Amino acid sequence: MQSLNCVVFPVAGRGTRLLPVTKSVPKELLPVYDKPVLQYAVEEALAAGAKRLVFVTHSSKPAICDYFERDKALVEVLEEDGKAKLVSALDDISLGSDIEVIFVEQDQPLGLGHAVLMAAEFAGDAPFGVILPDDVILGMPCLSEMLSDYKAGHMIAAMEVSAQDVSKYGIFRPMADATIGNLVKADALVEKPAPEDAPSQLAAVGRYILDACIFDALRQLSPGAGGEYQLTDAIAADAPRIGLTGRRFSGQRFDCGTHDGLLAAGNARASFVKGAMAAE
Ligand code: UTP
Repeated sequence: MQSLNCVVFPVAGRGTRLLPVTKSVPKELLPVYDKPVLQYAVEEALAAGAKRLVFVTHSSKPAICDYFERDKALVEVLEEDGKAKLVSALDDISLGSDIEVIFVEQDQPLGLGHAVLMAAEFAGDAPFGVILPDDVILGMPCLSEMLSDYKAGHMIAAMEVSAQDVSKYGIFRPMADATIGNLVKADALVEKPAPEDAPSQLAAVGRYILDACIFDALRQLSPGAGGEYQLTDAIAADAPRIGLTGRRFSGQRFDCGTHDGLLAAGNARASFVKGAMAAE
């Protein structure tokens, strides 16, 4: 597959792990050094060729929509003050006229599966991408790496985690002789298992390429772990029929839904930016 037409960004969650700031600032707009969390996700989608960006958001987070609005008056003031670098930073946010941006509301954060279902009417019939923006992946654009290997079925970015961390993730159940290079074929995905029940230590992280049939599975879903509609349950239901692949990626992933993850991502990005400036 050459490119993904549509990428969905579920951004309707409450971000409770980052309270108190998330009481009034969406976690997706918190900075990772020089750019908000959401900007990294959008750039990754554009790198994968996306032409339609669907943000599944909540009415309590209008700042997400505002972020993408052009502010002509601000640009004029910066230009008058000769601040060309800041104008170019704002230009980076502006999405070209060939990019369609859609905001759809999830009335209540009933879970990731429910959030993705809200995008059904916009995703079309072709495979589409999903990026969880708070999983920031620095380095090689992860969705593009996945796309380069994607053939059919569902694909999720995969990484090895420690035995005590398996209960924080969806965990792949690899099939026998299932590993070819960076790809791991799996026949199931178990949401947040106890270490003794985990089928492997290969965890799913927040990048997906999903066959459009996922919407049928999502419509039939019952609440799973934590009483939420889990995307992993719908993927697991489809896996035996259409196939499920984990794709190891080469970038560095940070859980920016936590204070420690945000700090570590900011430090890694700062080292990269300062290194690049020193090399100029
Ligand atoms: P998380 O579980 O990390 O986000 O969901 P959260 O619920 O906002 O965080 P905490 O646990 O309260 O701190 C991963 C992504 O899915 C979105 C979130 O906004 C986040 O980007 N999400 C989650 C939704 O859009 N809707 C939901 O119902 C749940």
